[in-house]
Amino acid sequence: MTLDVHTAAVQVRGLSRRYGTTRALDNVDLTVERGVTGLLGPNGAGKTTLLSILATVSEPDSGEVSVFGLDPHDKAERVAIRRRLGYLPQELGYHRHFTVAAFVEYVAILKEIVDRRQRAAEVARVLAATGLDRYARKRIRALSGGMRQRLGIAQALLGRPDLLILDEPTAGLDPEQRLRFRELVSSLPGDPVIMLSTHQADDIAAICPRVIVLLHGQVRFAGTPAELAGTATGHVWTADARDTSAHLSWRGGDNLWRHIGEQPSAGAQIVAPTVEDGYLLLSQRAGVR
Ligand SMILES: Nc1ncnc2c1ncn2[C@@H]1O[C@H](COP(=O)(O)OP(=O)(O)O)[C@@H](O)[C@H]1O
Ligand SMILES: [Mg+2]
Repeated sequence: MTLDVHTAAVQVRGLSRRYGTTRALDNVDLTVERGVTGLLGPNGAGKTTLLSILATVSEPDSGEVSVFGLDPHDKAERVAIRRRLGYLPQELGYHRHFTVAAFVEYVAILKEIVDRRQRAAEVARVLAATGLDRYARKRIRALSGGMRQRLGIAQALLGRPDLLILDEPTAGLDPEQRLRFRELVSSLPGDPVIMLSTHQADDIAAICPRVIVLLHGQVRFAGTPAELAGTATGHVWTADARDTSAHLSWRGGDNLWRHIGEQPSAGAQIVAPTVEDGYLLLSQRAGVR
């Protein structure tokens, strides 16, 4: 099969990856355009496996990947992809004795920013962008989880990458830090391709014009957040009493029971679905508990 490499920043066809008997990715096809794409799925869905393949850190068992028209399987093209890439792995192996600035500088050297002055300016830029400039001399082992997550984002921004892959960037951030992260992502210069994973639908609604839902290693939805919400139209309702036929029900702050299911009961009040409702309905239909 040949890929039409000029139409999209990232294209994936028939991608599969197993770990023993677990199908972490099962025949995944996807296309990613410029802008922010959110990869939404529960733990174990295959998000990290997919992102690590796109970041050229691991390889699939089968399938084709094209990043800016380059093939990560080819050694020279893989290097070319890495030069344009910023990656926040889910588990970044920090050198705990490093200071914040020393760690970012170390990554900048790995990223071939060889000119000293340019490197110092770039380190200062990413620390300021992530609000870490005040902590530049602090040791990593003394940072809180949220600050460490920001450090991971800072190093991913080095060199103004064309492709930014962020695996669970909002994990461990408090609400204010999540807002700052949203600001940061929406204000990055140069219109990079950004792929971020999350299991929180509100991150998607807030920052991702495109969303891909991954469940059990399969793509179950690709489109806009509004379209994802729209998939649950007519499937979300409120009532005074619990409806046991629903997939999910909970009592809201208004004391009404809110339901997500296939068939609203007679007399129920149909309500407009949210992005999370669309995601939960898809997950229920896919048998995710
Ligand atoms: N190194 C590994 N060895 C064995 N199983 C793995 C490994 N990495 C991931 N898996 C399994 O593959 C599936 C997908 O995992 P992962 O890609 O980490 O999903 P997610 O990031 O969405 O939580 C899970 O069932 C997970 O247990
Ligand atoms: Mg993961």
